[in-house]
Amino acid sequence: MSTTAVAPANIAFIKYWGVQDTARILPYNGSISMNLDRCLTTTTVTFDETLTEDEVTLTLYGQRPQAAVGMQRTRVTAHLDRLRELAGVATRAQVVSENNFPSDAGIASSAAGFAALTVATAGALGLDADERALTRLARLSGSGSAARSVPGGYVEWCIPAGPFEAERWDHESYAFSIAPPEHWALADVVAVVDAGAKKIGSAENHKLATSSPYFGVRLSEIATRLAATRSAIAARDLTLLGEMTEADHISMHAVCMTSRPASFYWAAGTMQVIHAVREWRSQGLEAYHTTDAGPNVHVVCAVRDMVEITRRLGELPLVQFTIANTVGASARIIG
Ligand code: DP6
Repeated sequence: MSTTAVAPANIAFIKYWGVQDTARILPYNGSISMNLDRCLTTTTVTFDETLTEDEVTLTLYGQRPQAAVGMQRTRVTAHLDRLRELAGVATRAQVVSENNFPSDAGIASSAAGFAALTVATAGALGLDADERALTRLARLSGSGSAARSVPGGYVEWCIPAGPFEAERWDHESYAFSIAPPEHWALADVVAVVDAGAKKIGSAENHKLATSSPYFGVRLSEIATRLAATRSAIAARDLTLLGEMTEADHISMHAVCMTSRPASFYWAAGTMQVIHAVREWRSQGLEAYHTTDAGPNVHVVCAVRDMVEITRRLGELPLVQFTIANTVGASARIIG
C-alpha cells in the first residue's frame, strides 16, 4: 500500500480568483494554465496498519526533511481523510513529500504538492478514479489550482454552464488537458524577486474578491478571454496568448488592490521585470508577464527565446534568480 507520484506546478494564463463555495472549492470562472516541467513535487504515501496517526514529512528545496506542523499538516491529513472515506478505510498513512524547486519562492508549490498527494494517495488506496475524478479530488484539497496540475501540458479547469448549483457544479467542475506538452514549445521563465516571501495562501483572498467593485467587471470579461486563450493555444499564437495573459493578471491584481481589505502582491522587483519585458517586446523580443498571488514574475516566451530571456532577467538588479521551464507532463505514478 505504498505509491509514489510526481506532479508539476502550473502557471495560469487565465487565473482562478474568487471562490463561490469554500467547502467544495468552486470558482466563479474557468481558468487555463500550462504545467512547468522543472518545478516538481514527488510524494510517497504508505498506508500502514501499525500507525496510530498520520505522519507527514516535507523536504523543501535545499533543506532537511521536516515533520509538517500546524495548518500544513492539517491540510494534508484532511485530504487523506477525504480519500480514505471514499475508499472506506481508516488506516493511517506516512506521507513523504519533496519539492525540487524553491517552495518559498512564490511558485505554485501547493498546486504541485496537492496534485502529487492526490495521485499518490488514490494509487495507494487502489481508488477507482480516472483522470477527471482525480482532478476533482485535487480541487477539493483546498488549493483549487492543484486540479490543473493533474492532466498534462496545457490545461483548462472548467465550470459548468448555467446558474450556480453547488451539487451539480461539484461534479462538473474539473480539469482536462486541452493540448499535450509537445503541441507548442512555450517557456515560462520565473524571475524570483523575493525568494523570502512565501506565497500568501490564496484561500482567504479568494473570499475577499467579491468585495472589489471591479470583480464584476473582471468576470464579465472572462468568457471572451478564455475563448481567445483556447484559440491562441490551438493556433500557437503567442501574441494573442500574451495579450490575454497580461490582461488577465492585471485584472486579477486590480481586484486584489481594490478588495476590502486590499492586497498588494507586487513589489519593486515585480515592476522592474514588468517594465523590462515590455521594453524588450517593443524591441522585437516577444515575451509576456504574469504574476500569481506573490511578487515573482513569470515570463512567457517561445522556447527558442528562453535562454536569451533568462540571461536578460538574470541581469536585472532586483532579480535574485530565475527558473526556466518548458511545458510539463501530467502528474503520474512513478513507483
Ligand atoms: C493566483 O487557492 O489554487 O495562483 O494559494 O497555492 O493554495 P494556493 O492556490 P489556489 O489559488 C491560485 C490562485 C492563483 C491563480 C491560479 O493559479 O489560477
